[in-house]
Amino acid sequence: MKDIFIFAIESSCDETSMAIVKNGTEVVALEVMTQIDTHSLYGGVVPEIASRMHTEAVTICYEQLMKKANIGMDKIDAVAVTYAPGLLGSLLVGVEFAKTISLVYNLPLIKVNHMAGHIYANQIDRTMNYPLLAVVISGGHTNLVKMTGDYEFEVLGSTLDDAIGEAFDKVARIMGIPYPGGPNLEKLAAEGTPSYPLPIPVKDNTYNFSFSGLKSAVSNLVNNEKMRGNEINKANLACSFQTIATDLLARKLSLALENTGIKEVIIAGGVSANKYIRSELKKVCDQYQANLSVPEFIYCTDNAAMIGAAAYPLYKKGEFASYDLNASASDDIF
Ligand code: KG4
Ligand code: ZN
Repeated sequence: MKDIFIFAIESSCDETSMAIVKNGTEVVALEVMTQIDTHSLYGGVVPEIASRMHTEAVTICYEQLMKKANIGMDKIDAVAVTYAPGLLGSLLVGVEFAKTISLVYNLPLIKVNHMAGHIYANQIDRTMNYPLLAVVISGGHTNLVKMTGDYEFEVLGSTLDDAIGEAFDKVARIMGIPYPGGPNLEKLAAEGTPSYPLPIPVKDNTYNFSFSGLKSAVSNLVNNEKMRGNEINKANLACSFQTIATDLLARKLSLALENTGIKEVIIAGGVSANKYIRSELKKVCDQYQANLSVPEFIYCTDNAAMIGAAAYPLYKKGEFASYDLNASASDDIF
């Protein structure tokens, strides 16, 4: 069978990324240009700055990718792009660039949902075996999803309020941990013990999650200790928060493994880069003799390789987009 090469673009938030992916699983080349240094000056992503920086970065990103890839555009079979969800202005830059490439090189256009991308990061250099449970944990999502085949999603549970990554970032901010909050909070937590008592969220038997109560508890604790003139042990507080947040993921995954009997689990989204979460969810999977697949670190956070991987099943089905494709800030697969 002929090899299929997909040229993929991701620009939904603060990374301009492009990749060439072979047969939905092999990364020929990947380029990721991050805007973290700029946004860290403001303590978070500034949407207007993000879209302007994407505009400046796209052609540079493209040139660098093609240099790395060492193959010509004549080898490419389709162009894939993240069109939702994300920051509208950022998404638009990628979508317009994809349309241009598609027109110039006469390639079919494939629209890819960003969260499908995170899930299909588990197809890079490995295979997803169905049925599976996907723990989707990112800056904007916390979902427990059952998959019975390609693009067959059944959402078992979701967050009732904040996404887990959002909670990591907000708690980091409350504690004065520099942006990007999630990874920095993880580093600090590794040096601490979970000594602070924080409320345990969602003790019921649903698959839902909630992180805003936990976030508020950290905020109250920090304020109260400040008013009393007491020092906070930041490492211990970071560790306490991370432990309770992870325990919630572990409990809900455990419940789903128990009730469904499914033996394959994947973790997807930026928060899956967290080593403590990976190891705790591995323990749960071991308990149920289930396999756990976690993407390599570079494919956990936003990147275009995962978009190329997620585009491949759509390519095979011939699901192509037309030139009236528009970016969308809201979700449509979960
Ligand atoms: O998937 P992603 O790159 O972007 C979205 O689609 O949202 O996820 C970004 C989120 C941020 O909230 C970031 O703080 C979090 O993932 N994150 C982490 C870690 N690395 C990234 N959270 C906890 N521990 C980490 N190591
Ligand atoms: Zn993402």
